Amino acid sequence: MLKFVIVLSVVSCVLAAPTSEGLQPQLDGRIVGGVPTTISSFPWQISLQRSGSHSCGGSVYSENIVVTAAHCLSSMPALSILRVRAGSSYWNSGGIFSQVAAYKIHELYGQDGMSNDIALILLATPLKFSSTIKPIPLAVTAPPDGAVAVITGWGTKRSGSQTLPTQLQAVNLEVVSLAKCASNAYGYGEEVTETMICAYTSGKDSCQGDSGGPMVAGGVLVGVVSWGMGCAFPNYPGVYADVAALHTWVENTADALTSQFN
Ligand code: ARG
Repeated sequence: MLKFVIVLSVVSCVLAAPTSEGLQPQLDGRIVGGVPTTISSFPWQISLQRSGSHSCGGSVYSENIVVTAAHCLSSMPALSILRVRAGSSYWNSGGIFSQVAAYKIHELYGQDGMSNDIALILLATPLKFSSTIKPIPLAVTAPPDGAVAVITGWGTKRSGSQTLPTQLQAVNLEVVSLAKCASNAYGYGEEVTETMICAYTSGKDSCQGDSGGPMVAGGVLVGVVSWGMGCAFPNYPGVYADVAALHTWVENTADALTSQFN
């Protein structure tokens, strides 16, 4: 009987079918397996919104530039429907709420699967830094395999869920190097390419709605939430844009965007 229940819950998780909480594997929590937190602990976190709904995360790079994922903007949304909320623990209230003046997707995004999944947003209203709004420096070297990183966001609490938590969530995960992530230790193989880095801890992960948001280790931005097979599925790490590999693009593109519009 016990065996039957375990098999059932794994199958229903993979199919993302509704099940009673009692049959779910222990994925309680937010993000997946995280805890509620406040913006003062992660003052670089922003919510990128489309037509009034949270759609992706992002990180404050400077007074007027936010880093997010290319796939968050690859449908080329009109500037008029985009907003960025900064300085709030809640995606739907508080802080500042800026319009978007421009955005720029990495020129090589998607040339190789989900490679170069990074983009910049130029804010219409520059941010005033405070205890709840602060930039995060970019990593220039990738964190080592096994380093502890923290991922934050308003993404779903589990694979297949349709509801977003309103309060920011945080989870600690272990970094998995590109080489290890693409090896047969995990399920992705060649889908994991040059500009990616992974993170994996059993029962914990980023999930839908966390995309574009920060993975931070050692006080610097090491990753941007990009993709994964489901969320917190065994053998399938979360995959992140590798900021160390992309930092020169961010610096040059931020300079270009800022001067073009000032
Ligand atoms: N692509 C997702 C988004 O748009 C993020 C997926 C992250 N998945 C994961 N298993 N870590 O929000």
